[in-house]
Amino acid sequence: MADNTASLNDLKDIKPIVLIGLMGAGKSRIGRELAAKLKLPFVDADDEIVKAAGCSVSDIFELYGETAFRDVERKVIFRLLEDRGKIISTGGGAFMNEDIRRFVAERGISVWLRAKLDVLVERTGRRGGRPLLEKGDPKAILQGLMDERYPVYGGADIIIDTEDVSVDVTVNEAAAALSSFVAKREQK
Ligand code: S3P
Repeated sequence: MADNTASLNDLKDIKPIVLIGLMGAGKSRIGRELAAKLKLPFVDADDEIVKAAGCSVSDIFELYGETAFRDVERKVIFRLLEDRGKIISTGGGAFMNEDIRRFVAERGISVWLRAKLDVLVERTGRRGGRPLLEKGDPKAILQGLMDERYPVYGGADIIIDTEDVSVDVTVNEAAAALSSFVAKREQK
């Protein structure tokens, strides 16, 4: 093994890997496949929020508002970051919260799955349940979120472009990037 890589086995006990990116970037799908490849458990933060709240993300937004959702999101992600050796997919707004960003920087390894607007529009069109996109034209909303969030997502430890390639290729790229990141920064 070259000096700047760590074997996949070395990744078993690393800091939690936190996938970030906009809605439709493929965080859950890629997270699941990456977890299978690295033989790590996978957890979807939005699913944990739904479990904690006892209702869907849309219902939380509608009944209690976005501020309440962000509060539960922060608590859930803090809890998920307590153990090592897992992959966490987060909702697109999570990394915009300063406390979450700081905690992820201390406790985890952040991986931004970057995608272009058309890809996000197409993928988010496949399933609903995303209250932020129900307020108007999804393409315009996603463009606004890209403008606001991409500079912040850019602070992630690792950035992976996801468009125009298969899930397998993205998963392999993410695994390779993680292994060299771990070897270089001794983040284990
Ligand atoms: C949100 C993204 C959603 C979900 C909520 C808010 C956001 O998750 O957390 O609807 O602010 O971008 P996904 O990114 O998994 O769709």
